Amino acid sequence: MKKRAFLKNFITLGVGVGASPALYAMEKTISRVEHIPPSTLAKDEDFWATIRDGYALKPDYINLENGYYCMQPKETLEHFISHVREVNYQASYYMRTVQWDNKKAMAAKLANLAGCNPEELIITRNTTESLDMIIGGFNWKAGDEAIMAEQDYGAMRNMFKLQAKRYGVVNKVISVPNHPKSDEEIIELYAKAITSKTRLLMVCHMINITGHILPIRKICDMAHSKGVEVMVDGAHAFAHFTFSIPDLNCDYYGSSLHKWLSVPLGAGMLYVKQGKASDVWPLLAEGKKEVDDIYRLNHIGTHPVHTDLAIGDAVDYHNAMGGKRKEERLRYLQSFWTTRVREMPNVIVNTPKDPNRYCGIGNVGIEGMKPHDFAETLMEKYKIYTVAIDGANVHGCRISPNVYTTTEELDVLVKACEELGAA
Ligand SMILES: Cc1ncc(COP(=O)(O)O)c(C=O)c1O
Repeated sequence: MKKRAFLKNFITLGVGVGASPALYAMEKTISRVEHIPPSTLAKDEDFWATIRDGYALKPDYINLENGYYCMQPKETLEHFISHVREVNYQASYYMRTVQWDNKKAMAAKLANLAGCNPEELIITRNTTESLDMIIGGFNWKAGDEAIMAEQDYGAMRNMFKLQAKRYGVVNKVISVPNHPKSDEEIIELYAKAITSKTRLLMVCHMINITGHILPIRKICDMAHSKGVEVMVDGAHAFAHFTFSIPDLNCDYYGSSLHKWLSVPLGAGMLYVKQGKASDVWPLLAEGKKEVDDIYRLNHIGTHPVHTDLAIGDAVDYHNAMGGKRKEERLRYLQSFWTTRVREMPNVIVNTPKDPNRYCGIGNVGIEGMKPHDFAETLMEKYKIYTVAIDGANVHGCRISPNVYTTTEELDVLVKACEELGAA
């Protein structure tokens, strides 16, 4: 079948799970290394150079700021462009026939990756929409308490502030240490903030400014034992390292798919534990759905449906690469540069040393140098693009490589830290 005819059928007939166009390049690359354990493959620069070839990278700088948006590899980008063309070609016909079945099929693929039931997960536009819908849709009463950390993302903290103004919710803000001695130290911090009035605890799976992975399962178990629900901000965790959402035992989980899953901009997901969807007021009203149907939280009007289709390709790409292979490479890259700079004079690593508490992201500061000056110097002198973080007990630059990053590029960062620390 000609490619165009295939794509047309693919969309007209509805996309079933596993029916996305093949990812020939990625599948061929992986078939050669299937026998190698992910932790060994993580150090194989030749293999990762092949993965890098699959990306169109701007030569002007070393991109160590994937934490905002992880670009699409060329192969899934081409599929995305085909989806844009086909949806445009079929126009209203597509919208009135298969758009909803296709979106549901994409959500089911995501649910499979997240390890949950398809009835527990919907596609949203981003983490902000997912989590702010829960925060704003909670049945708050004056005096109810919510717990969060100063290291949490601003958009969610602002949404809690809005509930404080609107309903009299009391927000309690803790601070997570950059270098905890144990899981128990963190759990104790959250536990101490809980009172008989606490209703909801928000916690980051991976703190975005440092890359610190928190012991979510233990936090959820502790909170539940005190009758408190837990909403997890998984903006940076999903498709970055491997886990199943139900294993975390949380009540709500939100993520942005344009981050580590490399979906085009404007795609996210929301997990709501079975039976809890009826407790939440939707962001926008949906007329027909049963009260306990998660899809009553999913009405957003007309939106870029070709992005929904791109989710299927991104999941296939991720699965073909292998979540564990990706996780091991990202953790290897982080430890590659942090182990070299951690003991350097005047260099401060703001991410824990224990590999169970980090994956690809790290944060580094230079004593006596403002984070914004550090970021500017990295770009101007070393052609490294990062983002400065200056607040919530974190002063440095966030370093977020991706699977296409080379150790040679990280050598430039190590050299920069050494020279700036010595200056
Ligand atoms: C921890 C965390 N939560 C939420 C968000 C918001 O993501 P989005 O803008 O995709 O909604 C971000 C964005 O960087 C984040 O880092």
